[in-house]
Amino acid sequence: MDELGFNKIAGAVLATALGVMMIREVPHLLMHSSAPETPVYQVGPIVQEGGEADAVEAPFPSPEFIASMDATRGAKVFKKCTSCHNADNGGANGTGPNLWNVVGNKTAAKAGFKYSSAMTNTGFAWDYENLNGYLEKPTKYVSGTNMNFIGLKKEKDRAAVIEYLRIASDAPIARPVAAQAPLTDIVQEDVAPQEDSPEKEDSGN
Ligand code: HEC
Repeated sequence: MDELGFNKIAGAVLATALGVMMIREVPHLLMHSSAPETPVYQVGPIVQEGGEADAVEAPFPSPEFIASMDATRGAKVFKKCTSCHNADNGGANGTGPNLWNVVGNKTAAKAGFKYSSAMTNTGFAWDYENLNGYLEKPTKYVSGTNMNFIGLKKEKDRAAVIEYLRIASDAPIARPVAAQAPLTDIVQEDVAPQEDSPEKEDSGN
């Protein structure tokens, strides 16, 4: 083959590879550039496909979590936050932003507060699950956050302070309902047994 012919083929191969790369990447680029109104992805534990252990993790929120949503207790827990926050209507920002109207709102929404870019770019809203995750371990849930707080270890404390914040609002969103347990047993029964599994062959001989 002459050199020109080879160059043409090499060029065609390169162009194809480039095309494939574009087709694979362009949808991702589109997805990330359009700021989503509703979250497209969430920051949090990544559930691996086929990971049996992750699939049976208790769904959020548990009935215990909901039962612990107690604003009186939450006011006491909130004392851990008051060095940086208040949750007063029209309250000033401090080291942390004022937390009036935070539950159900998108992240980094308080005017006049300088958030970290990590907080500005979460792409999610403060629903119950995200608040629970963030308050458990702020720096892990929103990596790069400026909230220099160790977190609330006890679920009971998180549920209580979240209820306290829920009602610190012009229009409190509804309390959450308990999540259903996953129907893993039923799903497993639906899988038809394999006709000729190696075990069967072995036992027959
Ligand atoms: C040492 C100071 C400090 C303490 C203590 C603290 N926070 Fe924060 N908090 C911050 C800062 C700073 C931010 C902004 C984080 C960013 O921009 O990354 C923040 C952000 C938040 C946000 C997100 C606000 C928004 O507008 O998106 C919530 C919710 C929150 N804190 C709740 C709490 C609660 C509840 C407690 C107590 C259990 C607490 N914080 C304790 C400093 C603190």
